[in-house]
Amino acid sequence: MGHINNTPEPVVAIVVAAGSGSRLGAEVPKALVPVAGVPLLARAVTQLAAGGVTEVVVVAPAEGRQAFMDALADAPIPVLWADGGAERQHSVAHGLAMLPDLPEADAEHQVVLVHDAARAFLPADMVARVVEAVRGGADAVVPVIPVTDSVRELVDDGSTVVDRARLRAVQTPQGFRRGVIEEAHRILAETETIVTDDAAAAEYIGCTVTLVDGSRDAFKVTEPLDLVLAEALVASGGTA
Ligand code: C5P
Repeated sequence: MGHINNTPEPVVAIVVAAGSGSRLGAEVPKALVPVAGVPLLARAVTQLAAGGVTEVVVVAPAEGRQAFMDALADAPIPVLWADGGAERQHSVAHGLAMLPDLPEADAEHQVVLVHDAARAFLPADMVARVVEAVRGGADAVVPVIPVTDSVRELVDDGSTVVDRARLRAVQTPQGFRRGVIEEAHRILAETETIVTDDAAAAEYIGCTVTLVDGSRDAFKVTEPLDLVLAEALVASGGTA
């Protein structure tokens, strides 16, 4: 599909925000936790839009949906909604089911990103790198960063050192052609298989995963210390 009337092709992002976020210990669902007054979910959607995403499907708990809608009342791009599932993978599948219908040939090649709402401070240029790699022909694109800690692997009788130079930590948004990610989730559901993330889903159906540079700013807000970092990042005029 080429560019029509100079309008860039649409890029849809599925933003999963239906986890409990219990490790954060907040009183509201994690995606609604404010940083400098702005909920994580709103920050994530704003950054995705800045990086070229034209529409989002937000996957959120069915219960308490209004609070999520309020958080995105001023979103810069259209928002569709889907209900969360038991596992993250099910939440992604629910989001995929809500993607707007397109003629088959267009749908096959549409760029679809999958993003964790908890990675709220992702830089726009990182989003653009993922989109470009998919447009360039990659089936599945994963942003990664080097691992800074030394790492040991637990084995039966103790532990063994792992060569950190060969390790990469995986972030989101991960990017796919729509045909690939839809087919991957269809097969996973059919075979009742659970995989760790969407890139692994694509690999499960035989696709090659392409790595692009991620960003430290795209850290996943998980534990209380991450909120301290988040507040400091915003205060310093960082990403968001
Ligand atoms: O639990 P974890 O931090 O790995 O979750 C990653 C993302 O997946 C979060 O944004 C969370 O809201 C989302 N999630 C979901 N549905 C689930 C579990 C997690 O949307 N059942």
